[in-house]
Amino acid sequence: MTATRRLWFSRQTPRHEAPSSEPDTPVLEALRISCHAPQDTATRLLDTVSLALHAGERVGLTGPSGSGKSTLLRALLALQPLSQGEIRVQGRVIMPGSVRALRWFRQQVQYVPQAAAASINPHHSIDAVLREPLHCLGRPPATSADIAALLDNVELPRRVLQQRAGALSGGQAQRVAIARALLIRPRLLLADEPTSGLDLATRDVMLALLERLMSEYHMGLLMASHDIGAMTRLCSRGVVMAQGKVVEDRPMAALIAAPQHAVSCQLMDAARGDSASMSAFPLY
Ligand SMILES: Nc1ncnc2c1ncn2[C@@H]1O[C@H](COP(=O)(O)OP(=O)(O)OP(=O)(O)O)[C@@H](O)[C@H]1O
Ligand SMILES: [Mg+2]
Repeated sequence: MTATRRLWFSRQTPRHEAPSSEPDTPVLEALRISCHAPQDTATRLLDTVSLALHAGERVGLTGPSGSGKSTLLRALLALQPLSQGEIRVQGRVIMPGSVRALRWFRQQVQYVPQAAAASINPHHSIDAVLREPLHCLGRPPATSADIAALLDNVELPRRVLQQRAGALSGGQAQRVAIARALLIRPRLLLADEPTSGLDLATRDVMLALLERLMSEYHMGLLMASHDIGAMTRLCSRGVVMAQGKVVEDRPMAALIAAPQHAVSCQLMDAARGDSASMSAFPLY
């Protein structure tokens, strides 16, 4: 770790202590949650889903397109109205509409959305984009040294600070979204398809970056992805969704070696047939 990185760590506000002192209380937990399409209450997007994420755990979430991965991430972030069940953060139930609770929640759990570039305000400089979350959470502003060290950490050149989102490549936009999340020093990062839309070389660099950041920042990860090779590399646990339900939730190695559900079998077979994924990360 470089001197600048150490400096950046030492200046960060300590994380909020957990309200629960139980050592095995999950950082984030969905308990039998269901939700429906806003305009069509007959369409169930999530169907009694339960998922617990413990401190430092790295979990890959996969499933066919439309199976509900992004909806589950949004629900876990309290961005999706629920028709049943509850979300708990460190044992505390998050009540919709409680600004104070949501502020505290955002300091524990941060998000890198599926379309990272679209999540960056196109009218603001990247410098302003990076500073905004701390301001919104009422935290002390980041110093220029903090921002510079953070850019080094996500391997972005300093000149991006003066640029706007439109001037960034897809890989750079992903890194800005990751940097924006890291500045909060969350306990858990939810990343939606962090390698989609990247060429193979940039994907490998992105995976190495995520791997390093998870260790350095002592963060857990929930990564939604179609990229089984990426999940194999980063995650120790694999969760499979189909039609709004969690159909399998097992250690990653067991999921890959002997998938149980028909959908998991199809996904693993497809990954084995994907020569790019196989050559980089053999499944056996
Ligand atoms: N606001 C909404 N209104 C109606 N339907 C929705 C809404 N949001 C999501 N859906 C539907 O819910 C289902 C799950 O969508 P979601 O985006 O969570 O899937 P996904 O697993 O993330 O897919 P992908 O792999 O393509 O990103 C889809 O059928 C989608 O059309
Ligand atoms: Mg999605």
